[in-house]
Amino acid sequence: MCGIVGYIGNKKATPILIQGLTRLEYRGYDSAGIAVIEKDKIEVKKDKGRVSNLYNLDGIDDLKGTCGIAHTRWATHGKPSKENSHPHMDNDNLFAVVHNGIIENYNELRNELTEKGYHFLSQTDTEVIPNLINYYYKQDKENDTLKVLRAVRNACTELKGSFALEIICIKEPENMIVVRKDSPLVIGKGNGENYIASDIPAILSYTKDFYFLNDYEFAYLSKNNVKFYDTELNEIKKNTKSIEWDSKGAEKGGFEHFMLKEIYEQPRAIRETIGTRLNSSKVSFEELGFTKEYLETINKIYIVACGTAMHAGIVSKNIFEKLCKIPVEVDIASEFRYRDPLIDEKTLTIFISQSGETADTIAALKLAKEKKAKTIAISNVIGSSITREADYSIYTHAGPEIAVASTKAYTSQVTILTLIAIYCAEILEKADLAKIETLKKDLLSLPAKVDEILKDTSAIKKFAKRVYKEKDMFFLGRGVDYAVSLEGSLKLKEISYIHSEGYASGELKHGPIALIDTGVTVVATITDEALVEKSISNIQEVITRGAKVLVITNQNLENKGFETVINIPKISTEISPILSIIPLQLLAYYISKEKGLDVDKPRNLAKSVTVE
Ligand code: F6R
Repeated sequence: MCGIVGYIGNKKATPILIQGLTRLEYRGYDSAGIAVIEKDKIEVKKDKGRVSNLYNLDGIDDLKGTCGIAHTRWATHGKPSKENSHPHMDNDNLFAVVHNGIIENYNELRNELTEKGYHFLSQTDTEVIPNLINYYYKQDKENDTLKVLRAVRNACTELKGSFALEIICIKEPENMIVVRKDSPLVIGKGNGENYIASDIPAILSYTKDFYFLNDYEFAYLSKNNVKFYDTELNEIKKNTKSIEWDSKGAEKGGFEHFMLKEIYEQPRAIRETIGTRLNSSKVSFEELGFTKEYLETINKIYIVACGTAMHAGIVSKNIFEKLCKIPVEVDIASEFRYRDPLIDEKTLTIFISQSGETADTIAALKLAKEKKAKTIAISNVIGSSITREADYSIYTHAGPEIAVASTKAYTSQVTILTLIAIYCAEILEKADLAKIETLKKDLLSLPAKVDEILKDTSAIKKFAKRVYKEKDMFFLGRGVDYAVSLEGSLKLKEISYIHSEGYASGELKHGPIALIDTGVTVVATITDEALVEKSISNIQEVITRGAKVLVITNQNLENKGFETVINIPKISTEISPILSIIPLQLLAYYISKEKGLDVDKPRNLAKSVTVE
């Protein structure tokens, strides 16, 4: 989806802007552009296509300005084209604007502005914004220092939908204004310079100190200063937060793709997510501070998220129910938010979002708050929107995840959810103590066991070579293995474009088995000792019907007649998905690579889905 970068300081803005956009390429886009304040005008350079094309645009090397804005566009309103690319300007070329998000009432605004004499060059929703600002600017008879800011504020009060905006104005060449509503934007504080980005990794090599904006807060930047204002244009104070991420996390570091690098980073991500929470005799979450009295009032836990994060929720339903004896519902955020869920102050709600910017998950969290439920946000990004909305925020420490297909964030999410389940269980004193001790020991053994799986990937590569031309695959499992099958299937379809389905093994014969025929590939995961025999019977049923089968297991399945078996280390069943997903991630990766696809940036997908 769209990306934003901005710079104001003493250096030439253009290289910084283009480098920032390059770092945002992973988000997916179809056009790119920059606007820089030159001596007496704003210069805009933009076109459809890759960010690197910007280097070839006429006159780009001549830009000397030290204040500029930049954008990668992912088309929503109007096809990818030069005209529709950002930045957009008003009819008098006073303002240049880049915008992430969607302006829902742009048609009305466009009609109103057209009646006032404005004309439009693009089909975008964005182009109404610079013209609306222009309109308010010209209406304003004052000539004070807040005139441009006032025009921006007045325009923003008319916008419906979501927006993160960067605005520069030729009348104030030493300033820039940014504002957001329901779309991410951060300000990086430098020394005599300031940076803007929709995603932290874009500017991480310049600064680690960030300001985070809330909805409808306006930042008024100069190279040496950032002032913040509310909608009444009263000044507000903000402090920076430091981000520990290493800028190397946003580079490939010798790996062919970010996805492979991130798969290999999982031991570290899990270790850092556990951090010191397991060092004491009891699991600690000081930020939650739950008491036994409070947890005893909870009659339901809701875990809500999208995609892979939702799959992490499905895995952990089992452990919460087992250890805490509280029923758990796992829901898709885009469904939850529109179906008037039965929740109240006795419901504990957990929202999981790697990016912390997923529009549906944020809306679901807001709904839970309205209904008085306690809300916990689990995110990988410090200061992300979801963490600012929730009652409590807990972070995974996976480091920046750049590949669109989530890997290390997923295993870190399951890790942190397991820790939260143990934390609640220890307070509630309902779970078997020996079970808890085993789980804790097993959690600490995870990094080494993931390493063990990653040491030899030859069998997975070989299987990938065998099946990469297939059109359909099934991922089967029971219990937690079913949860992992859903995630394995999602990984495959998003980066290999092979149709696949994750299914509960026992459910297969209620319909989908009709699709099993000679040559269909089935990937089965078997890690639950109690369900081994039943799972084996299900696999035999598909082998009989001609399926090629890959089995991922930590059980002894020698002599069961399976052609390809990948053995993974033994661990408590509840957390076995953290291990069994690794071969499935690798399978998706090697199939995508074998097919020569863009592994890190699969078609039609965006890293964070900031619109509905
Ligand atoms: C799949 C994937 C997506 C995300 C989903 C939620 O590999 O990455 O399914 O998990 O879009 O994103 P976050 O966790 O950022 O809310």
